[in-house]
Amino acid sequence: MAQTEPNLDHDISWFLLPSYWAKMVVALISFLCFANSYDGDFVFDDSEAIINNKDLRAETPLGDLWYHDFWGSKLSSNTSHKSYRPLTVLTFRINYLLAGGFYPVGFHVINIILHCTISVLMIDVFSILLGGLQFSNKGRRLNLAPKSSLLAALLFAVHPVHTECVAGIVGRADLLCALFFLLSFLGYCKAFRENKEGHTFSILWVLVSVILGAIAMLCKEQGITILGLNAVFDALVINKINLLELIQKLLHKDKLLEAINYNYYYSLNAWLLLCPWWLCFDWSMGCIPLIKSVSDWRIIALAALWFCLIGLICQALCSEDSHKRRILTLGLGFLIIPFLPASNLFFRVGFVIAERVIYLPSIGYCILFTYGFSLLSKQAKKKKILAVAVLGILLINVMRCTFRSSQWRSEEQLFRSALSVCPLNAKVHYNVGKNLADKGNQSAAIKYYREAVRLNPKYVHAMNNLGNILKERNELHEAEELLSLAVQIQPDFAAAWMNLGIVQNSLRRFEEAEQSYWTAIKHRKKYPDCYYNLGRLYADLNRHIDALNAWRNATVLKPEHSLAWNNMIILLDNTGNLAQAEAVGREALELIPNDHSLMFSLANVLGKSQKYKESEALFLKAIKANPNAASYHGNLAVLYHRWGNLDLAKKHYEVSLKLDPMAPGTKENYNLLRRKLEQLQKKGGA
Ligand SMILES: *[C@@H]1O[C@H](CO)[C@@H](O)[C@H](O)[C@H]1NC(C)=O
Repeated sequence: MAQTEPNLDHDISWFLLPSYWAKMVVALISFLCFANSYDGDFVFDDSEAIINNKDLRAETPLGDLWYHDFWGSKLSSNTSHKSYRPLTVLTFRINYLLAGGFYPVGFHVINIILHCTISVLMIDVFSILLGGLQFSNKGRRLNLAPKSSLLAALLFAVHPVHTECVAGIVGRADLLCALFFLLSFLGYCKAFRENKEGHTFSILWVLVSVILGAIAMLCKEQGITILGLNAVFDALVINKINLLELIQKLLHKDKLLEAINYNYYYSLNAWLLLCPWWLCFDWSMGCIPLIKSVSDWRIIALAALWFCLIGLICQALCSEDSHKRRILTLGLGFLIIPFLPASNLFFRVGFVIAERVIYLPSIGYCILFTYGFSLLSKQAKKKKILAVAVLGILLINVMRCTFRSSQWRSEEQLFRSALSVCPLNAKVHYNVGKNLADKGNQSAAIKYYREAVRLNPKYVHAMNNLGNILKERNELHEAEELLSLAVQIQPDFAAAWMNLGIVQNSLRRFEEAEQSYWTAIKHRKKYPDCYYNLGRLYADLNRHIDALNAWRNATVLKPEHSLAWNNMIILLDNTGNLAQAEAVGREALELIPNDHSLMFSLANVLGKSQKYKESEALFLKAIKANPNAASYHGNLAVLYHRWGNLDLAKKHYEVSLKLDPMAPGTKENYNLLRRKLEQLQKKGGA
C-alpha cells in the first residue's frame, strides 16, 4: 500500500525545468549577480588576512598553517583572534602561488565560482528538504520537488546579503564552510538512502559525511553546526521524533529570558534576510544604538520577530500535517542552527551583526519563503500574478547584487556606501578617513577622523591617525593633546607613543620626547622607525654616539631602513670620520644595492677622501636611477670642479641650476667656475 505525502510542487505555479537546465539557470544567474566583482581590489579585512598574512608566502612551512589563526599569528599568542581556518588559508596560499603575487583577480574568480557551485548544489539540497515522503510497504523514500527547489535555489543564488561573502575575499571562509557543510548534509542523506530492498544504512556515507563536516569546520568554525543539523534531520526524517517533548526537557524558561538582550540584533539579522536594502561592511561600534528603555519603539521589531518565530515554531511542532511539520522544522533548523555560534548564547563573539554569518542561515529563509509561496499559490486565484511578483523579487535582487558587488570592488566605494547606512558607526568614518589619507588627501581625512573621535571618544586609532596628520600640518598643540589622550586610554599603544615623541621633539621638549620614544620601544620590541626617530632626537642634542647607536639599532631590525643608513653616513661625514662613514656606506649599499640616496651619500664621502674615480662612478649611477635630483648634479659638478675637469663641472652645474635655480651654493660655485674659465680663455688667447 503506497501512501504519498503532498509535495510543494503540487501547489506551486512555477516552471518545471529538467534538472540539467535548472542547474544551468541557477549557475548562470548566480554568476550574473556577482561577476562584476572579479576585478575588485583587496579591501578591508583582505589586507590583514591576505597581504599581511605571512602564511601565504613560500617561506612559511606548510605545517605551520595548522598552528596559526586566520591572520597568520600563532594560535597560542595573546594577540591571536583564535579564528581557526587553516583550509581557507591554504586556498589563499594556492591562489597566491598560482598568481605569482598579490593580484586580486584570481582570488575573486574562485569566490564567484564557489558561490555558483553552492547555488547549484542548493537545488539538490532543497529537493530533499522540500520534497515529501513516500510510504510503501518497502519503506520510505523521498519524493523530490524539482519546481519549488528551483525557486528556493534561485532565491538563495540572488540574495544580496551574500555580496560580502562573494565580493569580499575573506568571505571565502564562509563559502568554503557552506560548500562542505552542504556536501556533508547530502552525504548524510545518502547514508540513509532507500534502495529497492527498502531502508538501508551505509556506514561509509556516514563516514564521508563526518569527514566533510570536519573539512567544513577547518574552513570556518561555523561548520561545526552541521552536526546539529544532521541530528535534526535524523530525528525528523529518519527517526520521526517529536521535537516538542525534547525541547521541553532541554530548555528552562529562564534560559530564554537570558537571551532577550540579544533579540533585537536577531531581529535585525532577520530583517537583512527579508529586505537586504541596507548593507554595510561593518555593523559594530555604535552603528546600532543600544535599546535603553522599554519605551523604545524598536521593541516592536523584537516583538515582531518573536511573533513570527513562535508562530512558525508552533506550526512546526504541532501541525497535523507531517509534511508541513517537517518542512517548517528543517527551514527553521537551517535558519537558526548555523546562526547559533554568532548568537552570543553560548559564548561571546566580537560582533553584533555581520552579513557573512547569514550565508548559511539564508538557506532556511529560502525554504520558508518557498513554502509560504506554495501556500499562497494554493489559495490564490491569480496564480500568474503571484508568479510574476516572485519573478520581480528575483529580478530586484539580481540588480541589488550587481550594484552591491560593484561597491565592494574598491575600499573607497565600500566605505562611503556605509556612511548612509551606519552614520553613527565611528569605524565607518575612521575607514573613510584612512582611505582618503592613504591617497594623500589629508585635509579631507581630518574631517572624518574628527567625526570618528566625536562618535567614539575612546577611539585611540582614530586619535592616533588624526594626531599624525595634524603633526604633519604643524598643528602641534592639538596633535599633542590627541596623542596624549590616546596613550592615556591605551598605555601600550606603541605607535601613539612614537608619534607623541615626534610632536614633543618638534615642540623642543626633548626629555619628554626621549621618554615617549623609549616607552614606545618598551611596548613594541621591534620598532625600527622609533629607533630612527630616537636617533634624530639624539643628533639634535649632539649626542652623536647615542644617535649612531639608535640608527644602528634601526638597521639591525630593518636592514633596508635607508633613512637610518643615510643619517649614519651623513653624521659620520659631518663629524670628520670619513673612514667610518665610508665603511658604513659600503655596508649599506651591500644590503640595498639599488638605493640611489645611499649611492649619493657614499659618493660624497668618497669625493672628500679624494677617491675621485669611484665617487664619479657612484654619482653617475645615482643620477641614472634618479635623473631629476638637482643636488646629485650639483655635487657631481663640485667633484669635477675639484678634480679639475672643468667642462664636465660646468655641464652639471648647469643641469643642476635648471632643475633647481634656488639650490643653495650652486649658483656661487657656478659663477666661480665661469670666472676661472674666462681667465683661462684670456690666457689661452694671449
Ligand atoms: C640599541 O639596542 C640595544 C639592544 O636592544 C639596547 O640595549 C640599546 O639601549 C639601544 N640603544 C639605542 C640608543 O637605541
